[in-house]
Amino acid sequence: MKDIRPITDPERPKVYIETYGCQMNVNDSEVILSILQDAGYALTENMDEASVILANTCSIRDNAEQRIWGRIDQFRLQKRRRKGVVIGITGCMAERLKDALLDGHSVDIVAGPDSYRHLPELIRNVTPDNPQIDVLLSHEETYADISPVRMDKNGVSAYISIMRGCNNVCSYCVVPYTRGTERSRDPQSILREAEELFENGYKEVNLLGQNVDSYLWKDPVSADKDVNFAQLIEMVAKVSPELRVRFSTSHPKDISDEVIYTMAMYRNICRHIHLPVQSGSNVMLEKMRRRYTREWYLERVAKIRSVMPDCGLSTDIIAGFCGETEQDHKDTLSLMEEAGFDAAFMFQYSERPGTLAALKYPDDIPPAVKTARLNEIIALQNRLSLKSNEKEIGRRHTVLIEGTSKRNSEEFVGRTSNNKVCVFPAPGHKAGDYIEVEVCGCTSATLISKPV
Ligand code: 5AD
Ligand code: SF4
Repeated sequence: MKDIRPITDPERPKVYIETYGCQMNVNDSEVILSILQDAGYALTENMDEASVILANTCSIRDNAEQRIWGRIDQFRLQKRRRKGVVIGITGCMAERLKDALLDGHSVDIVAGPDSYRHLPELIRNVTPDNPQIDVLLSHEETYADISPVRMDKNGVSAYISIMRGCNNVCSYCVVPYTRGTERSRDPQSILREAEELFENGYKEVNLLGQNVDSYLWKDPVSADKDVNFAQLIEMVAKVSPELRVRFSTSHPKDISDEVIYTMAMYRNICRHIHLPVQSGSNVMLEKMRRRYTREWYLERVAKIRSVMPDCGLSTDIIAGFCGETEQDHKDTLSLMEEAGFDAAFMFQYSERPGTLAALKYPDDIPPAVKTARLNEIIALQNRLSLKSNEKEIGRRHTVLIEGTSKRNSEEFVGRTSNNKVCVFPAPGHKAGDYIEVEVCGCTSATLISKPV
């Protein structure tokens, strides 16, 4: 069996990888490490001993990019201290900024999300006067044949990318430009990866895509063998009832009844859906080009709850999008209450060059107003999360143990099927075990529980 954990070999040249952004990027770094291990490198967590320093980057908001520019300055200090160190920028920022990153010899390699196979060659070809750039996007690349080298610490839960790119041109979003068009990965290669993880002791796989509901594998021979997302999660759920299946991200316009019913059929498909709403105002949703309405969104939530009353629901929200009025903002708050989200990722709108919104709509909400609205959204979500957790008190859950609690080494931490973080004492247990607990208290972020 191929090594799925990092090779430790003191003789090998070392690569240091920093990852920013989404779960997809975390998994891409594991693909990059796999490719570089095959080329003779070994991973290090110590930048001072690395001959290659990589930052796998994110462009989703301006503050993500600003942080990375700061890190590039740090990397350059390494170059000054140690001759021959190669600095590479991979991922979304490489794709978006291309030449700007090479200006002033900031970095040696710029490689976009579809160029990772070429990294060994790019590294070989770098000279002080000859930086390397490869930012071609592909219609086919899915890295299907590459076994990611798992960099997580606990060996319990792993990501599997099932598709790449995105065909939804939401007006605020840079992803279609940085990660290219949508393509689905061969289901057999996904299944093999899930089986391999299970054989290596993993108990949970998280299937990743920008819009998993539009996953569609077109069989080259027979249309009868096409595989959609509902069929894919069923295939993966059948690997073992002991293997939990999660997925992200669902799109409200595409999540189908078939997916909801398939989830309900398998206990090991976790009862949690991440369904980004972005705004509760139909005017904003239209300008965002989300292609659903508030009413459509709430109908999907009602459907999910009617089929799986215990299903956890989380979302993403953008505060202060172009032209957002006080009433639009209130619509977002009221939608949050109606949907009763268990958790949310909440952001201020950040204009991204080249997107439709940047071209068509002025970014006209003053920063102080954006911040005030975001704070109101966060405060409301804290109340909703607390309310949702309080409902769990007295209930029992099967929790998959992920490791020991950071706050208290005597306690374990794990997740319920509906994606709530649980802490509990469990002497004699270890990461990767399933355990039955009863919830006896909570905060807005955590369920406090005891084994039953
Ligand atoms: N500004 C703020 N937030 C954004 N997101 C995507 N683009 C932007 C932007 N330009 C948020 C959305 C998305 C999440 C991954 O990031 O809420 O769902
Ligand atoms: Fe992920 Fe989007 Fe950031 Fe790219 S821009 S790393 S796809 S969150």
